[in-house]
Amino acid sequence: MSIGSNTPGDTKLPSRFWEIFHEVYDHLPRQGPGNRACAARALALCRDLPPLPAVLDLGCGTGGQTLHLLDLTSGTITAVDRHQPSIARLRAKAAALDLTHRVRALVADMADTGLPPDSFDLIWSEGALYNIGIEPALRTCRSLLRAGGYLAFTDAVWCKGDPPPEVRAAFDLDYPAMGWTPDVLASIERCDLEPVGHFVLPDEAWWDDFYTPMGQRVQELSGKYAADAGALEVLGQIQRESDLHRIYADYYAYVFFVARRIG
Ligand SMILES: C[S@@+](CC[C@H](N)C(=O)[O-])C[C@H]1O[C@@H](n2cnc3c(N)ncnc32)[C@H](O)[C@@H]1O
Repeated sequence: MSIGSNTPGDTKLPSRFWEIFHEVYDHLPRQGPGNRACAARALALCRDLPPLPAVLDLGCGTGGQTLHLLDLTSGTITAVDRHQPSIARLRAKAAALDLTHRVRALVADMADTGLPPDSFDLIWSEGALYNIGIEPALRTCRSLLRAGGYLAFTDAVWCKGDPPPEVRAAFDLDYPAMGWTPDVLASIERCDLEPVGHFVLPDEAWWDDFYTPMGQRVQELSGKYAADAGALEVLGQIQRESDLHRIYADYYAYVFFVARRIG
């Protein structure tokens, strides 16, 4: 989950939300749950990729998983996000690692990237596809994949019925259409993709590169904004997401889904 994937302009959010949100999130190693071990496990399900796969990373954020994929594959990666500062950060990270020849980072809407159809061996997307609706996103991915190509993505799902009202309210704000794992598998099949495998992300994938550095950043900014009630309200709202997770993590999960375009 990441409340911040929600659409800017949401009237249920305080007016300073997006300004402060980006001051927190843009500085984190990643903008949602995930880690290198999970990326490696999902990649292992993508058998017989070519030695130099053409990879597309949709909703790449500041590139946490893009850097893992650069390490885990020998291919080239086109990384897309609609948030320009995230793309600037990814470009800077790739330059610092001397990897610019393997990464093309683009500011674009994943619903309409303008990239050529049937052209990618692997499409990757962590915590981002749901922003344009899972089935529209799956159809978009299918059209961009070559026949036989793989799609690996994470999505939040319910794991337990009757969530407490505060958990329901958080997801109503960020992902009101969130379903259960069988719903996502059914969507994959409806979009003419073949499910290959799926697994639940472990708890450390929420904390190590996401909620723990988020808490540290919120602390830092709480000092900076000690006399600014509006900013402190937003920081409190951001912090509540991980506080809720600490208590209610068994009600929902992030699942890595791997699917394949057949034909
Ligand atoms: C939860 S963050 C995940 C970022 C990154 N994949 C990660 O796991 O660290 C979702 C990302 O999707 C991006 N995003 C949301 N809607 C998008 C759209 N329609 N087109 C492109 N990017 C989008 C956001 O800017 C954000 O960077």
